[in-house]
Amino acid sequence: MKSYIVGNWKLNFNVGEASIYLHKLQKKIPNYRDVEVVVAPTALCLQPLSLQIERSKMKLAAQNAFYRDFGAYTGEISFAELAGLVNYAIVGHSERRYIFHEDDKMIAKKVAAAIRNKIRPILCIGETESERSFGETRDVIRDQLLGGLSEVSEEDISKVLIAYEPVWAISSTKDAKPATPDEIAEVVGLIRANLKEIYGAKIAEEVPVLFGGSVKPTNAGAYLTVPGVNGLLIGGASLILEQFTDIIETAKRVKQ
Ligand code: PGA
Repeated sequence: MKSYIVGNWKLNFNVGEASIYLHKLQKKIPNYRDVEVVVAPTALCLQPLSLQIERSKMKLAAQNAFYRDFGAYTGEISFAELAGLVNYAIVGHSERRYIFHEDDKMIAKKVAAAIRNKIRPILCIGETESERSFGETRDVIRDQLLGGLSEVSEEDISKVLIAYEPVWAISSTKDAKPATPDEIAEVVGLIRANLKEIYGAKIAEEVPVLFGGSVKPTNAGAYLTVPGVNGLLIGGASLILEQFTDIIETAKRVKQ
């Protein structure tokens, strides 16, 4: 399986800055066939960057979209509008869950809308610090995974990627602390066990599972060698060209 290195730019870089960054990134990295590089700029940047991006080297992702395709939904952008512009969409990021109150039901509709519009959803799941301290990690992971996938057929599951992002490890969380490879291995194991239960052993092995939360050049190698981890979702470090390219090169080395 390929490795996936996804840069989540969040609400950073205006159109001009994003375009300059993409230009530099494309100059710096070759076409790594076994590493899928993906960048997720703000919605406003997707159209201009879609004209600039060298798709043989990298792909675009949306950070979010609405689940209805068209209609009276003031202020929203739909997956239908993004079809053709992006290959991927981040769905259910913890910032969407906790700042914008998205629940598993809404996230399930977004996952389905992405697939309907030929966009691969990257479904983010992960427990908070307090959920972990109360021993609820196993249940939270199961609920978010089964909830988010509740509208996905067996036929479509191959289009989905899962990102395990413990909220306590995301750099913007207060007192964030990086996860250890063992902590990641345990939860990725749970994710695959749940997938196996619903979709069977073969599919459980084939769904890419990414890790995200304070990924840096210094820990990327260790995270990428955790059994069952197929890639990284990177926030802060993806905004710094040297760090992001360093992580991409690490992914390439790990693959060899
Ligand atoms: P971080 O963000 O790498 O800055 O911790 C990850 C994310 O929120 O996707």
